[in-house]
Amino acid sequence: MTQARPTPHVLVLHGPNLNLLGLREPEVYGQQTLADVDQQLTQLALELDVNVTCRQSNHEGLLIDWIHEARTQFDAVLINPGGYTHTSVALRDAIAGIDRPCVEVHLSNVHRREPFRHTSLTAAVCVGTIAGFGVDSYLLGLRALALRLDRQASTVGAG
Ligand code: DQA
Repeated sequence: MTQARPTPHVLVLHGPNLNLLGLREPEVYGQQTLADVDQQLTQLALELDVNVTCRQSNHEGLLIDWIHEARTQFDAVLINPGGYTHTSVALRDAIAGIDRPCVEVHLSNVHRREPFRHTSLTAAVCVGTIAGFGVDSYLLGLRALALRLDRQASTVGAG
């Protein structure tokens, strides 16, 4: 018999400039606002039986503090590090330090864009990366994390 797992809590982090979603370069990032993204994530979370808490900051240190908080308060992290993806050793170290599965997402296909966007400092410490599907990148990322948390729970339960 399959045992119901406790509802996991996923921290969703949006990095710099993502507060301008819908206004900023809509030809690259689309028309939907950050509130639209969070609303779709919250709706999907219900379907997947996970809880989500969504936060956005333009400040590297605050994002790092929130990642540290995930060590004890959350089961997983879904993150769009924005421009910090390509520059922040500190964000990478924070993700590496928390022992929580983290999925990196990008609205745009960073590999089709300027060469400086082809390198992610954070990807190597994440479980995986989803890029290029617009808002669906976030939704696919949440599905991937929920699947991983399900598998994790059934492995632990089996032991
Ligand atoms: C982004 C891609 C980054 O290169 C860029 O700096 C962003 C958004 C994306 O979601 O496509 O701010 O992370």
